[in-house]
This record gives sequence, structure tokens and C-alpha cells, in this order.
Amino acid sequence: MSVERAAEILASAAQGVALTGAGISAESGIPTFRGEGGLWTQYDPVKVATIERFREDPRAYWTVARERGPAVLSAEPNPGHLALAGLEQSGHLVAVVTQNTDGLHQDAGSDRVIELHGSGRTVQCLDCGTRESRRDVQGRLEFQMPPRCRICGGMFLKPTVVLFGEPMPVDAVEEALALARRADVMLVVGTSLVVYPAADIPVVASRAGAAIIIVNAEPTPMDGLAAVVIHGRAGEVLPELAYRALMSGGG
Ligand code: OAD
Repeated sequence: MSVERAAEILASAAQGVALTGAGISAESGIPTFRGEGGLWTQYDPVKVATIERFREDPRAYWTVARERGPAVLSAEPNPGHLALAGLEQSGHLVAVVTQNTDGLHQDAGSDRVIELHGSGRTVQCLDCGTRESRRDVQGRLEFQMPPRCRICGGMFLKPTVVLFGEPMPVDAVEEALALARRADVMLVVGTSLVVYPAADIPVVASRAGAAIIIVNAEPTPMDGLAAVVIHGRAGEVLPELAYRALMSGGG
């Protein structure tokens, strides 16, 4: 019933925007951060994912990255990512704003993807600025920890993701907020909505008049804001939602 209602709302969207988090990539085999099996239940983010700690001890960061990297690098888009790409092609969505750094929305065919937390597919040397692909750096972790810059030998090679304590990419945040203010529908998928400023985006959209649809495995602190809340797996719910929205027309 709620999927039907959500599809009706989405079918009427002219400026629909999706906001996604780690939950949409869970069915691609990438563990989420919070909840059962989440990365932050195994590691303390303050010890491994702040920029201060990275500068003190890049090896601690890369120890986690060495473990998590293969799952991320070999992951493929799942039906949830593909459904969002389809909704953009059909005109029901104008963009995907994501907290994810895995690149799977782009792989699925989404054209306009705003990465609020950067991209994990590139690594940059903090000393000389040289960039390398994450895949190449990942390949040498077995014999070089922490990895060194291949140009200057520096030992502060950091994926181009936002660590705690680092500024967010200003252009991405501004674009996401502008999209939220213009949105008539916001489809929020697979995020616990506890990390700011990303968690503010549905609030901004709602205040500007957008109808909020939340698809998440568990309740979120913002369920009260939503016109429809669907508790389920993104890879199962989104294809059905997209199909029904397409059948209802609009876009
Ligand atoms: P979280 O791990 O906090 O939340 C993921 C949400 O997805 C949870 O509420 C799960 O219930 C839900 N979920 C899990 N599997 C799902 C599925 N198959 N379908 C639908 N929902 C599912 O991830 P984010 O909200 O993305 O930041 O976390 C936000 C930020 O916190 C991340 O970008 C990262 C992290 O620290 C940085 O690294 C800067």
C-alpha cells in the first residue's frame, strides 16, 4: 500500500531528488556504517576516520581500508541503484545526492550525482597533490603499509573522501541544498540520517514544500517528516516503486 502511495507521489514529480546513504549499497556487498555488522560497530571512527588521526597514523586508516577496500572495489550496482538511474532517465528524478563514496550510482547510469562525502575511487598525496586510482594503491597495500606516494615518496596518501574534521566540498553542498529547495519530491534511501549536514537536506526540502518518501531498513529520526515511510530493502523496494511510478506516468 505504501509503495503504491509513494509511486503516485513520485509520478507527479517534476523536480524529484534522491538522497542516498550506505544502505543502498548494502545489497552490493558493502557494509554500512551503523547498525548490525556496521563498520563503526567494529572500529571507532574517532580512532580511524578523523583527519587528525590520519595525519598522526596513516597506517591505522589504511589497515581498515585494506580490509574494506576489496568489497568496495569489486562491488557492482544493485537493482536499487539501477532503479534510481531509470527514474532519472524517465524524468521522475533530476539528480541523486549521495553520502556514498563508492561510485555505484555512476556505474548504474545516473548522470547527475552529487557526492557530498567525496569519492573513494581516487587517492591524493597530501604532500605533493599527485592523484592515483584507489585500485592501484589498494594493490600495493599487501607489501607497503602505509602506502607511499609514487612521485614524492610521501606517506600521507588519502582517498579523496571527507574524513571527520575535514570541510565538506562546498560546491557539492551548495548544489545539494539548491536542489533540495527546488525539489517537489525527495526520495531518501538507505541512510540513518544522523550525519550532518546531509541529514539537513530532507528538512530543507520539506520546509520548501517537497513531499518526502523514506525507504530504509529501519526507522530513522526523520520518519515523522515523511509523507510515506517504507521499511524494506532498497534493492527490492526501489524497482517496484520505479515500475509503478513509470506506469502512473508523469516525469
Ligand atoms: P549508516 O550506516 O549510518 O546508515 C545506513 C542505513 O541504511 C541504516 O539506517 C540501515 O538501517 C539502512 N539499510 C541497511 N541496509 C539497507 C538496505 N538493504 N536497504 C535499505 N536500507 C538499508 O549510513 P549513512 O547514513 O550513509 O560519513 O552514514 C552517513 C555517513 O556516516 C557516511 O557517509 C559516513 C559515515 O560516517 C563519512 O565517512 C564522512
